[in-house]
Amino acid sequence: MKTEPFLKELSRTGRTGVLLPESDVPERPLCELVGDEHLRTEGPNLPEVDQPTVIRHFVRLSQLNYSVDTHFYPLGSCTMKHNPKVNDQMASLDGFAGLHPLQPSSTTQGILRLMKELERLLCLIGGMDACTLQGAGGALGEFIGLLLVRAWHRQRREEASRRRILVPDSAHGTNPASAARCGFRVHNVPSGPDGCIDVDRLKEALELQPDGTLPAAVMVTNPNTLGKFERDIEKVADLTHQAGALLYYDGANLNAIMGKARPGDMGCDIMHFNLHKTFSTPHGGGGPGAGPVAVKDFLEPFLPVPTIEERDGQLVLSYEKPLSVGRVHSFYGNVLVLVRAYTYILSMGRTGLRKVSEDAVLNANYLMSRLLRLFPVAFPGLCKHEFVLSLREFKKTTGVRTWDVAKRLLDYGFYAPTVYFPITVEEAMMVEPTETETKETLDAFADALAQIVQESLSNPDLVRTAPHTTPVARLDEAKAARELKVHW
Ligand SMILES: Cc1ncc(COP(=O)(O)O)c(C=O)c1O
Repeated sequence: MKTEPFLKELSRTGRTGVLLPESDVPERPLCELVGDEHLRTEGPNLPEVDQPTVIRHFVRLSQLNYSVDTHFYPLGSCTMKHNPKVNDQMASLDGFAGLHPLQPSSTTQGILRLMKELERLLCLIGGMDACTLQGAGGALGEFIGLLLVRAWHRQRREEASRRRILVPDSAHGTNPASAARCGFRVHNVPSGPDGCIDVDRLKEALELQPDGTLPAAVMVTNPNTLGKFERDIEKVADLTHQAGALLYYDGANLNAIMGKARPGDMGCDIMHFNLHKTFSTPHGGGGPGAGPVAVKDFLEPFLPVPTIEERDGQLVLSYEKPLSVGRVHSFYGNVLVLVRAYTYILSMGRTGLRKVSEDAVLNANYLMSRLLRLFPVAFPGLCKHEFVLSLREFKKTTGVRTWDVAKRLLDYGFYAPTVYFPITVEEAMMVEPTETETKETLDAFADALAQIVQESLSNPDLVRTAPHTTPVARLDEAKAARELKVHW
């Protein structure tokens, strides 16, 4: 493929030997700088184990793992899809993996070129004008976006009254959390019976409130976390702008519309991308990720520093941005995630990215049509990349909860879907098959759920006490989280 030599070249030109300035290297060995009272008098009591035993121990442990490489992960709102291995190969090239953030930019032209190019591609995909790559994940992207909202209102001398961020009740929990963390008040906007924003309630929320506050921004996710496309998005954008607020777009679900529709064309002013979801980087367990933020040109002056600028044919990191919201991440973000996303975009190309969206939507609708025979969908009609089932009636007739069904799926070799989210749906089960699963896998998953329904009718205790085949049985998860034990 063409991508590989190009990336290798970028990697080579990003290489350097100098890592630390000489003045930072201590003159005496470290052990001489530590007081005698801190030094060991005996060697550590390390276990004496032979190599085969150690290898077997760790290989066995690794075999207990669930991962996208071993199992289907229908985890709604998380986009756990296949990550092409070429992305990892590129991120492992010496010139990228061996980079040190303190290298002078004259030695990092390759990676800076890649980052600048990635900014351009993300702007093209999102329909935006400028971009920062520094967000370390979706939630930090939201936080950066809201800092930009605040900076914009401050420049217009409206910061004191623009206190509210309007968030639909279907939003991912990070949206209200980011708004609160940025010092705004969260104003909840209810969804209508179709799962989309209730435009009349939005209009009310956009008005001046009795406490004297005005809206600073509206946060939308499109398609939203119920898997529905917000058909009134252009009306939402117009109303938001007429009210003097900005429209923020949570791009975590972009794999449903990428190459088909662009948030910038819908009227959104700021957006974040979840590179570790849409652009296929292995993620989970809290990271690592990347949440670049793209904006329309009038917000460009507020973007975080450093920015990547071209001067005399050289790329440099620039801090000359008087209106910038400042630094939001140490150094330049999670750079190797950026290399993976860039590789993915180049190897997919324009038509490939479009096909991603088509397949994500096709897979979700196929699986939904199969599961509809078992459980009703919370918001009927076609979905985008994911859908939400409600097991409310099923629980009434069998006494088996969504939680139990999710646990029983583990016995069938499937990771459990997202459950009890969104909170607006009772006994919710949220399924996102993603674009990279085959029809056979989707059928096997639907068959397993059908089997679990049968079991729930004939032997509900079997389901209520699941899982039975995993290394550990059902845990008290709240206790496990509160009393963390990472050793035995
Ligand atoms: C719709 C939506 N927004 C925001 C986020 C937050 O992204 P991150 O987990 O990278 O912080 C997610 C994550 O699942 C999401 O699904």
